[in-house]
Amino acid sequence: MSRVLITSAIPYINGIKHLGNLVGSQLPADLYARYNRARGNEVMFICATDEHGTPAELAAKKAGKPVAEYCAEMHAVQAEIAKGFRLSFDHFGRSSSQRNHRLTQHFAGKLADNGFIEEVSEKQVYSNADGRFLPDRYIEGTCPNCGYDKARGDQCENCTKQLDPTDLIDPRSAISGSTDLEVRETKHLYLKQSAMKDQLDAWIGTKADWPVLTTSIAKKWLHDGDGLQDRGITRDLDWGIPVKKGDQDWPGMEGKVFYVWFDAPIEYIAGTAEWADANGKSDSDWERWWRTDKGADDVRYVQFMGKDNVPFHTLGFPATIMGSGEPWKLVDYIKSFNYLNYDGGQFSTSQGRGVFMDQALSILPADYWRWWLLSHAPENSDAEFTWENFQASVNTDLANVLGNFVSRVTKFCASKIGPEVPTGGDYGDAEKALIADLAKRIRSYEAQMDAMEVRKAATELRAIWAVGNEYLQAAAPWSVFKTDPVQAGAIIRLMLNLIRVYAVISAPFIPDAAAAMLAALKTEDDSWPDDVEGALDVLKPGHGFDVPDVLFAKISDEEREDWQKKFAGART
Ligand code: 2FM
Ligand code: ZN
Repeated sequence: MSRVLITSAIPYINGIKHLGNLVGSQLPADLYARYNRARGNEVMFICATDEHGTPAELAAKKAGKPVAEYCAEMHAVQAEIAKGFRLSFDHFGRSSSQRNHRLTQHFAGKLADNGFIEEVSEKQVYSNADGRFLPDRYIEGTCPNCGYDKARGDQCENCTKQLDPTDLIDPRSAISGSTDLEVRETKHLYLKQSAMKDQLDAWIGTKADWPVLTTSIAKKWLHDGDGLQDRGITRDLDWGIPVKKGDQDWPGMEGKVFYVWFDAPIEYIAGTAEWADANGKSDSDWERWWRTDKGADDVRYVQFMGKDNVPFHTLGFPATIMGSGEPWKLVDYIKSFNYLNYDGGQFSTSQGRGVFMDQALSILPADYWRWWLLSHAPENSDAEFTWENFQASVNTDLANVLGNFVSRVTKFCASKIGPEVPTGGDYGDAEKALIADLAKRIRSYEAQMDAMEVRKAATELRAIWAVGNEYLQAAAPWSVFKTDPVQAGAIIRLMLNLIRVYAVISAPFIPDAAAAMLAALKTEDDSWPDDVEGALDVLKPGHGFDVPDVLFAKISDEEREDWQKKFAGART
């Protein structure tokens, strides 16, 4: 048994995520977690809400709530939706937890002790009307590049150009709209990533097995332009983790908090500590996942994220870990994703464009979405959600192939033979060939799952479902039954066992349907088919079963058109 630590990028607190966010991190991470558990590995699967930074402050302001209250509420909302999608986190934490406060301050202190923090005096925009320094995002103005008049001080949303607040034409405060701004001197902390460049470069150099998407982004940041830059890790915000050196005050840093991207990945560790706290465990129970001096050296640590998160996970967070000089676990594999687009454009949280997680669950059960999203995961390039494709995929793969198979086998047996696994008859060449074919395909499915090749794994799983259908069609037990009912029973015995195997291997993709299949077969045996022949002999003659309700309802053209219309506009 191996130990696998899995983290999904932690979603921002500011609102419900769309399906593009889901497929880029939480959902494939869940697939991998479920698969590893099914293979008998010990898994720790951590996610959380990312609660600091300007997006959180702005969203709370928009909602008219104190930011702490807003975050607590939105955390509960996101946790509930995650449950709805059957995301099987061992813990869904909060980056605002006391554990994260302490750990983030601890890391900052260690980095400072080791000479990796520089105090830099810099000029920053101060708003006299608001009585505070304004973070870049809190300054709005006209983009010098495209003329968009609501460009933010960090980036123009219209043309995506990265900006400095001083680039903006006619700058104003995004809080009050005031133009009474001045530039003042203030002190900030910088993480000296440049001093760790060679170490990071050498480390990335050892990751030849990582997806090219991951390493190419890391290498670009390491080598392009002037190479890896030091990064400011403090901000002038009210909400966040106060800047401290361990548990000591940090002179000159009063009133400042750590930058959200400094504390967010540390929440992976803090979230595991929160898991321990929530489950009556001790520190050593979470440390064995994270401290290589406390047992974590045999842990395989895998992170899942969208491509925009890669720089912070390949460089920023590793720099924090390495610079601490302490034996914390570094990531072993980073699985990154491209973007999912929506019906000819982009999913957009700010514009409310696309299907959001709560909306998705309001029209169809989680499995439908999980299957489509995972089988179309944007791995090698961006992918696109269209309602036509979604309908086709659900109706063909889930309803026609898998659902229909389960229904035909159980209904036929229940009505012609009886509600029990039939006895007698022999497996001939066709059955032996089927078993051999399934064994080969299941091994190949495992290989794709082990490699986190999500689409290829889905393709293999679909092929495994199809093989059963094709065999059933050719074996035609309904015809055999007329002349040789015992032999028809043997065919059905094999097929009922195959339904159990399908349930087990499909569960990481479609956990609810898998559970319904096992329930119909009246078995709790969800052991992985390491030995496929043996696995197809688990349900013995005489074992009772039920005909399950329809596993997957087809999506009609009317429904598709309705949803297409309903989700065409912006979410309000
Ligand atoms: O892109 C995002 O949604 C970020 N909130 C991801 C943070 S991942 C990590 F740093 F924790
Ligand atoms: Zn612009």
